[in-house]
Amino acid sequence: MPYPFTEEDLDDDRMIQGARRTLAEFRSWQERNPEAIAGHVDRYTRHIDGLPSRHPLRVRLRRLGARAAEHARIEREVRHFVIYNLLEVPTDERIALITEGLSRYVPEFRVVERTVRTGGLEAAVDLVRARLNGRAGDLPELLWLRERLRRLHRVLPADVLRAGAMGKVSRTIGGVLAIAVYDTFDVSADEAADHLRRVVRGGYALGAAYAIIDDCLHDLPEHRLPRAEREDYHRLVLRALPSGEPLCPSQLPDNPLAEELCAMREQVLTDFPPATHGHLYRAGTCMYLAQHRDASRAHPDLADVFIKAGLSRVIANIMGRRSLPDGFYARCLNTIMLSQLRDDLKDREEDAAAGRCTLFTLPPEEVAGDPLYDVFAYEAYVVDGVFDGDERVADDLAYHGAGSIAAYLAQDPAQAAELERAYPPTPEIRRFLRVAAGLHPRVAAHQLPVDKRLRAEVNAVTQARPATDVDCRTFAFDQLPFIAAAIDGHVRKGSTGDLHEVIAYSLGAHGKRVRPTLTLALAAALGLDRDRLTPIVAAGELFHTASLMFDDLPAQDDASVRRGRPTAHTVFPESSVQLAAISMISTGFGLVAELSAHFPPDRVAQVVAYVGTSLGPERLCRGQDLDLRLARSGRALSATEFVELYTLKTSAAFEAALVPLMMLTARPQREIELVGGYARHAGVVFQIRDDILDQTATVAALGKDVGQDTGRGSLVTVHGRAEAERLMAHHLERAYAALDGLPFDVALLRGMARYFATRRR
Ligand code: IPE
Ligand code: IPE
Ligand code: MG
Ligand code: MG
Ligand code: MG
Repeated sequence: MPYPFTEEDLDDDRMIQGARRTLAEFRSWQERNPEAIAGHVDRYTRHIDGLPSRHPLRVRLRRLGARAAEHARIEREVRHFVIYNLLEVPTDERIALITEGLSRYVPEFRVVERTVRTGGLEAAVDLVRARLNGRAGDLPELLWLRERLRRLHRVLPADVLRAGAMGKVSRTIGGVLAIAVYDTFDVSADEAADHLRRVVRGGYALGAAYAIIDDCLHDLPEHRLPRAEREDYHRLVLRALPSGEPLCPSQLPDNPLAEELCAMREQVLTDFPPATHGHLYRAGTCMYLAQHRDASRAHPDLADVFIKAGLSRVIANIMGRRSLPDGFYARCLNTIMLSQLRDDLKDREEDAAAGRCTLFTLPPEEVAGDPLYDVFAYEAYVVDGVFDGDERVADDLAYHGAGSIAAYLAQDPAQAAELERAYPPTPEIRRFLRVAAGLHPRVAAHQLPVDKRLRAEVNAVTQARPATDVDCRTFAFDQLPFIAAAIDGHVRKGSTGDLHEVIAYSLGAHGKRVRPTLTLALAAALGLDRDRLTPIVAAGELFHTASLMFDDLPAQDDASVRRGRPTAHTVFPESSVQLAAISMISTGFGLVAELSAHFPPDRVAQVVAYVGTSLGPERLCRGQDLDLRLARSGRALSATEFVELYTLKTSAAFEAALVPLMMLTARPQREIELVGGYARHAGVVFQIRDDILDQTATVAALGKDVGQDTGRGSLVTVHGRAEAERLMAHHLERAYAALDGLPFDVALLRGMARYFATRRR
C-alpha cells in the first residue's frame, strides 16, 4: 500500500524515500490489478459517453436555464473540491450544506468568469470581496490583494505572462481561499475573519512564489536567465526558506521579482511564524528542492513529480486550514500526482515547444512504463490504496479526469490518434480516447473543472499588458532579446583575430543595455514600432561600448575588469582595441543613416548631425578629456563643476539615445527640449550613482573595477556621500519635472530615472 506519510516525513531524504516506496508499490499493484484499472477507465468513458458529438444541445439547454443540471454540476464541483483539495470524503449532507454556504459566500462561478472577462482580475477580486465581507466583516486584505495582483502583473516578464502565469496565480489563491472558506463554515464571523485575513495574504504569497520561482527562475530558458544568475537565486531561496533570518535587500538581485519574493517572505513569516508553522517551511523547502531538481534534470524522475505536486496541496492546506486532520499527509501526498500526470499529458505540445522535459515530451522509448496508462492506473490505485475503494471517490475522480482530458482532446482530435500511436493503449483506453476526441469541442469545454476555467479566463485578460504599464526593470528585461538581435545583426561572428572578435568581446553579454532600453522606453511612450528603430537601438549601444573601450585604456582609466571580464586591451593588442572602437563609432553612423528606410531623409540627416555633436569634442569627448585632465591636475572640483562634467561625459550618450526619436517624429521643439532635459538630469543621476557604487559595491557585483575614483577624486570622494545623495535627489526631481511637461505616457521614463538612482550594478 502507499507510503504512510506523516509530518515527520517533511524532510528531503524521507520525502524521496516515501515517494519511491509509493511508486514501487504502485507498479506492483498495477501488475496485479489490470481489471480494476480497466474498470476505472470505463468509468471515464461512461461519464462522457452520452455527451453530444455534433450539436451542443445540452450546453444551450443549460444556458437557457436548466437549473437542475446546473445545480447538480455545482454539487459535483463541491464534492470534487473537498475530495481532491482537502482529501476528505464528505457525506451528502455535508455537501448540501457546503453547496448552500458556498453559493452564499463565494460568487457563482459563471459570475466570476464573466466578471474576469469584462472587468479583469481586479473586478473579480472586488466581487469576492463583496461576498466574503458578508461572512467576515470588512476584509481590507482583499484590497491589498488587488494591489499586489496589479503589481505582480506589472513585474512579471512578458514571456512568463504569455505562458499563463497570472492564471496559475489566481487559481492558487482561489484554491487556498476556498479551503479557508470551507474550513470556517462552522465558526463565528470574527474567527472566520481572522483566519481569512491571514489566508488571503498567504494565498497570494504562495501564488506569487509559484509564478516567480517556478515560471521565472526555473522555466525561463538559459538565454533569458543565465545559469550563474539562476544559481544565485537558488542559493538565496534555499537560505531564505527555512532560516527565518532577515534577508537584506542588497543580497538580492536588482530585480522587482526578487523584491516581491522578499516582501512575501516577510509577510509569510509574520502570518505563519516558524515557531508554530515549522511544518510549512519544511514542506516549502522539500517542494522547492523537488522543483529545482525537476527543472534542472534532462530526464524527469517520477519521485520529484510526485513530491512537488503533492506538497503544493499540502502547503495550500497548511495555509488554508486551521488544523490538519489525522491521516492528511498520507492521503494528500499519495493522491495528487494523478493530476500532475494528467496535466503533463494535456500540456505536452506546450511543454515540448518551451523545451520543458516531462514524461510526455520524451520519446516513448526513453520512458520506463507507459505514461498514458499511468494516468488512469495511478488514479485507480489511489481509489484503492488511499480511499479504500470508495465508490463515490472513484466516480468523482473519473468524472473530473474524463472532463478534463475530453476538453483537451475534443479541441484537437488529432491528438487522440497521436497518443494512440505513441502509447499503444488498452481497448478501454482506446475507447475512451475516441469518445473524448469525438465530442463537440464546446460541449467538452463545458466539462472543464472550474479552476481550469478560471485560469483560462484570467490568462485571456492578463497575457498582454499596455506597453508602458510595466515596471521599468521588467521592461528592460523584456527588451533584452530584441536589443541583442539588433546588435547581433551588426556584429560579424566567427572571425578570429580580427577587429570583429574585439568588437564581439567588448559588447559582452553582461552590459545592462541602458541606452537602447531608454530608446525603446521612449518609443513605447510615443507608440512607435520598435522594428523600425533597430538601427538606432544598435547604434546607441555601439557608441556607448566604444566609449567604454577608450575609457578603460591605460591612457585613460587604466581599468582591468569590464562587464564581468578582463578589459579588452588586456586581452587584445591595445591598437586593435582602439581601431575596433573607432570602427564601432563609424558603423554606428552608418546605421543611423539606415533610418531613412522608414523616416524622411531630412529628419534622418538632422539626427546624424545631432548624434555627431553629442559624441564630439563639445560633449562626450570633451567630458572625458576634462575628467582626465582635472584628475591629473590634482585640483579639487566644486560640486557644480562635477555636475557639469557628468552632463558632458555621461548625459551626452543618454541624449543621443532619446532625442533622435523626437526628431524622427518631428515633435514640437518644446518637447524636444524637455526630453533633452530629462536625459541630462537622468544622466547626472546615473553618473552620481556610478560614483557611489564605485565606493560601495564589489567587483563581482558590478562587473567592473571599483575604487577607481579614490585617487583622482569624484563627487563622492571629494564632497562626501551625503552631498552626492542630495545632488542625486535634486537631479532626479529635475528629471521628473521635465517629464511632467510631456503630453505622452512617461511612466516608464520616470521609472528608469528612479532606477538609475537606486541601481546596484
Ligand atoms: C558605464 O555605463 C559608464 C558610465 C556612464 C558610468 P554602464 O553602467 O551603462 O555600463 P554597461 O553598459 O552596463 O557595461
Ligand atoms: C565613463 O565614466 C563615462 C563614459 C564612458 C563616457 P566612468 O569612467 O566613471 O565609467 P566606468 O566607471 O569606468 O564605467
Ligand atoms: Mg572614466
Ligand atoms: Mg572608467
Ligand atoms: Mg565610474
